[in-house]
Amino acid sequence: MANIKIPNDWEVSENETTPESVFMDRRKFLKGTGTIALFSAISWAGCAPSANSGEPATPVPVSESEKAIYPAKLDDSYTVDGPITPEKISSRYNNFYEFSSDKEGPRYNAQVLKTRPWKLEIKGHVENPGVYDMDDLYKTMPMEERIYRLRCVEAWSMMVPWTGFPLKALIDKVKPKSSATHVAFTTFYRPFSATGQLAFWYPWAYTEGLRVEEAMNKLTFMAVGIYGHPLPKQHGAPIRLVVPWKYGYKSAKSIEIIEFLDYQPPTFWTTAQPLEYAFEGNVNPGVPHPRWSQGREKMIGTGRERLTQIHNGYGRHVAHLY
Ligand code: MTE
Repeated sequence: MANIKIPNDWEVSENETTPESVFMDRRKFLKGTGTIALFSAISWAGCAPSANSGEPATPVPVSESEKAIYPAKLDDSYTVDGPITPEKISSRYNNFYEFSSDKEGPRYNAQVLKTRPWKLEIKGHVENPGVYDMDDLYKTMPMEERIYRLRCVEAWSMMVPWTGFPLKALIDKVKPKSSATHVAFTTFYRPFSATGQLAFWYPWAYTEGLRVEEAMNKLTFMAVGIYGHPLPKQHGAPIRLVVPWKYGYKSAKSIEIIEFLDYQPPTFWTTAQPLEYAFEGNVNPGVPHPRWSQGREKMIGTGRERLTQIHNGYGRHVAHLY
């Protein structure tokens, strides 16, 4: 896949970046606050052996309709300015608390998740509620490839080529009622395979939410693939949200339910740590996290850091929403 250099309004010049060695080491920082001890206590669950999974071990083959979406056409209106993060790095550095609170854990532990067949339910304040099999979506949704920045609230970033479709295409089918103000996204709840969900102090299942206008924005993307192939389980197979102007925690993985509501829903992180993670979750270098700055970001896989951009550089597409 080509990485075409098209200057964009979110470009950051080389002289704004500094070596990684200068960058705050968050693990050291967390250690100082005692947070590492808490996170380590959580990881016992995510690292439990897969023999306890309760899910069949035999992988289900990729269907013809899923195979047919690759290669998807690159939508170069969203091409970024820097190198794509190599897959061997992004697929080994994941946040997926259902399987581990370590970055390395999901790559191993998520493999027990049964992702085929998979159904996505759409309900709530819509004219056409329904349950979609993934094959329905592979056949009917306008699949394309988009290279987006991913900026995690933990002050690191990547450049990722996703395959999927704009969420708006699905929303147009289900037709939200005028009473719908928000959309809630819910990940599976399967604590016998996703043993991180045994961590009783978290409000499982993982849920996220957007305002309807945010969900309908052309940037809001449902990813079913990455690097030109189906999503590996650690990235949220078979379908996940990608909202590139918001911190990564808004981009819920392995979604089973999309519900249209007439109120702002509680989410996993706004319930677990309301003082640290806001519902809006927009990337904003001017608003520090209570425990660290959001002014700069470590570019995973490059050994460099850069200045963080307001709305992660996507302001011209989304600033009017705020
Ligand atoms: N979705 C679920 N279900 N569980 C999670 O723990 N972590 C979020 C988001 N989606 C998370 C999730 C966070 S904090 C980030 S940064 C991104 O997933 C990371 O996506 P990636 O591992 O594919 O890079």
